[in-house]
Amino acid sequence: MQHLPAAKQLSAHVREEIDRLVAQFPPGRQRSAVIGALHAVQQENGGYLTQELMEAVAGYLGIPAIQVFEVASFYSMFETRPVGRHSISVCTNISCMLCGGEQILAHVEKKLGIAVGESTADGKFYLKKEEECLAACTGAPMMMVDHKFHENVTLARVDEILDALE
Ligand code: FES
Repeated sequence: MQHLPAAKQLSAHVREEIDRLVAQFPPGRQRSAVIGALHAVQQENGGYLTQELMEAVAGYLGIPAIQVFEVASFYSMFETRPVGRHSISVCTNISCMLCGGEQILAHVEKKLGIAVGESTADGKFYLKKEEECLAACTGAPMMMVDHKFHENVTLARVDEILDALE
């Protein structure tokens, strides 16, 4: 596969990870590795993607940059602007709302001093836009922190979880 010059911006670790992903698909189907590639790049870049890094992924995979931008902007697990290191999503959809999800969200906002969509000034926390149902309704109310689900949370448990993060 021919890599474009922008691909040089990717670390050796990320390139190895992309190679591993590409090898899982038939020849010519490297586009299927975009999601995994973006995960690897985002993780290494402190939790968000830049245009340059997305172009580098496209260059490495040998596909048009628009195909990478489409994926990055469609899926809520990707961030395309600088955000805090720890990503917090509080579910306030129906099951969680009925079980106190809105109070959980208000507590997190007050504790961190930020509103939904904002990051703390020290770059530690990012309170993501309220998600739709995160498919853990039986454990309502729930919140997701760095892609890990926490169910049946209470205000005290929220404090424990957030205070334990580095
Ligand atoms: S409503 Fe919150 S996980 Fe389903």
